[in-house]
Amino acid sequence: MLHVSQHPLIQSELTRLRCRDCPGPEFRQRVRRIASLMVPDLTRDMPSSPSPCETPLEWTAGVKLDRPIVLAPILRAGIGFLDGFLDLLPDASIAHIGLARNEKTLLPEPYYFKAPPDLDRKEVVVLDPMLATGGSLVEALRTLQNAGATHLRIACLVAAPEGVAAVEDHFPEVPIFTAALDRCLNEKGYILPGLGDAGDRLFGT
Ligand code: PRP
Ligand code: URA
Repeated sequence: MLHVSQHPLIQSELTRLRCRDCPGPEFRQRVRRIASLMVPDLTRDMPSSPSPCETPLEWTAGVKLDRPIVLAPILRAGIGFLDGFLDLLPDASIAHIGLARNEKTLLPEPYYFKAPPDLDRKEVVVLDPMLATGGSLVEALRTLQNAGATHLRIACLVAAPEGVAAVEDHFPEVPIFTAALDRCLNEKGYILPGLGDAGDRLFGT
């Protein structure tokens, strides 16, 4: 269920993003661009149905998605990832999931959750640029499932093998789309080679 992007546009954007000298405004812009570039793969297998439409000249066959899309960014860094998805999915509604990773235990501490209604009838895409230990994404998926979500998928920028394994242990049916699969975590739970702290780089903290 792991999809690692091979697209050269995504890979070249990501290369610049990883550089320590990439300044905040450029970092934000490139995260947004990668998010948009990920949308076609992320949505490729979403179910759709025939939907005829009338052109100015005649009726023709068309297509519509079966389920509305909900984008579910994990705060804060997921917010920096959101706009690029919204650029291509402007009709999506948003579920906000507030989680902060405790710097000592590396466990996620929930602080906020607000989601649109009828999640069971929607495609829910959880957004988090960084999949490190996987604690945050596992907690987010649990929260969304408890709120009724059944059609779930994950989009991230950089994933560590440890985090992918944790998500697959708890949610083997949830596909993970990532721009890169990196080598490992360091002793502080940072992804190597990674790109540093995504939230800090996005928001200048
Ligand atoms: C970072 C990142 C992920 C999480 C990943 O967030 O944005 O949400 O860590 O780590 P994990 O896979 O080990 O759980 P952080 O909690 O630092 O908050 P921030 O987005 O507010 O910076
Ligand atoms: N969160 C980040 O922002 N970066 C990492 O490398 C790990 C968790």
